[in-house]
Amino acid sequence: MGTFHVDLEIGDPEGERYNKVSALVDTGSTYTVMPRPLLEQLGVNPREQATFRLADGRSVEQEIGQTWVRIGEKSVITLVVFGERDGPALLGAYALEGLLLAPDPIAKKLVPVEGLLMSNTATARKLEVHYTINGRAYEAYIEPNLTLLEVVRDELRLTGAKEGCGTGDCGACSMIVNGKLVTSCLMLAPQADGAEITTIEGLATHGDLHPVQQAFIDTGAVQCGFCIPGMIMAGKALLDQNSKPDEQEIRAAIAGNLCRCTGYTKIVEAIAAAAEA
Ligand code: FES
Ligand code: FES
Repeated sequence: MGTFHVDLEIGDPEGERYNKVSALVDTGSTYTVMPRPLLEQLGVNPREQATFRLADGRSVEQEIGQTWVRIGEKSVITLVVFGERDGPALLGAYALEGLLLAPDPIAKKLVPVEGLLMSNTATARKLEVHYTINGRAYEAYIEPNLTLLEVVRDELRLTGAKEGCGTGDCGACSMIVNGKLVTSCLMLAPQADGAEITTIEGLATHGDLHPVQQAFIDTGAVQCGFCIPGMIMAGKALLDQNSKPDEQEIRAAIAGNLCRCTGYTKIVEAIAAAAEA
């Protein structure tokens, strides 16, 4: 066993801002710390206490949070451990969830591969799930009974999909999973493991709204807005399958989406207008 340095970047919870860190890697260690001020600077806050097993069998209590980490081209959302204020950035061989740094003894360098943080409480009963959401790879360590909506909103911080009813009746949580419109409040997150998912955040490209989004604005189909992400996803899912739907087909496509404000007429007009665009 020995020590190496590795350059990586710790990001903020949105994955927008990154700070470079040169971490000391102790390949004999089974847990990892990042200095607390570094995480605080990026707005990464502790989420829970976790117990980690050390290589010698002892346990330590640490505060953990979640954020983005990038090494080279690879970025993953990952758990981070809050360390001492003045302590070094120390990355163990099983350092960060989703990012296992395995030492290559011949080249004397560390190779990032996927792996698990050694934890006997917070993460031991969790499942690892992988999604491609709006073209970007995500992974999360989750309680197996969470819904896809809870994981996407609360863990991955894509909050466009809304929870209205939580029982599959209102459609506010609609997402497209492997090409199908689903009410994500009814889908367990592990059921979607490996899926390609599109959420409302993924519709605009390079700042240009999707035709359905634009049509909702142009037609004045939005009032309070709560149902709108789900309505737009339902409209997009329809147009993906049927580029020239008639009114009846549009009404059938949004039959699972409730709106308390608009009376639906403008929404139907908006989807029809998007089909013409
Ligand atoms: S929140 Fe999912 S259908 Fe209402
Ligand atoms: S715009 Fe308010 S619920 Fe639809």
